[in-house]
Amino acid sequence: MSLMIRKIAHIGVAVKSLDAAIPYYRDVLGLELVGIEEVADQKIRAAVFSVGDSTIEVIESTSPDGPVGKFVEKNGEGIHHLCFDVADTARALAEAREKGARLIDETPRDGVHGMKIGFLHPKSTFGVLTEFAQEGEGHN
Ligand code: CO
Repeated sequence: MSLMIRKIAHIGVAVKSLDAAIPYYRDVLGLELVGIEEVADQKIRAAVFSVGDSTIEVIESTSPDGPVGKFVEKNGEGIHHLCFDVADTARALAEAREKGARLIDETPRDGVHGMKIGFLHPKSTFGVLTEFAQEGEGHN
C-alpha cells in the first residue's frame, strides 16, 4: 500500500506579520500572490504564493494562543510544515496510522481552498509537521 502522495502541495512558513512578509515573497522573489485566506478553525491567515506546480503558504496567527502563534513564540519565524498532495486525505491518514505514524487529526478537516487536510505529529516524522491535503471540489 502507499499513501498515494503525488507531489509537494505546499510548504507552510510561519511569520509574525503577513503585511511584513508579503512584499518579500511578492516583490523580492517575484512570486504570484494567489490569494489570502483566513482559517478560523486554525486561527490563521494565509497568503498563498504560486511556485510552479506547488505553493508556499505564508501563515500568520490571528491569536497568540493558536497553534501557529505558539510555534512562532517557541521557535521564531520559519518553516512550519510540509504538505503533500494526496488523492484521499482520510485514507492517507488511516494508512499512516497503520504504519505507525502518530496522527494529530484522526479524520480530515477543512483547509484553505476547500481542501481536506490532516496532520501527522512531528514527534513521529523526525521533527517535520506533516500535512496531507486533498484538493477541494472545483479547485484547479
Ligand atoms: Co498547510
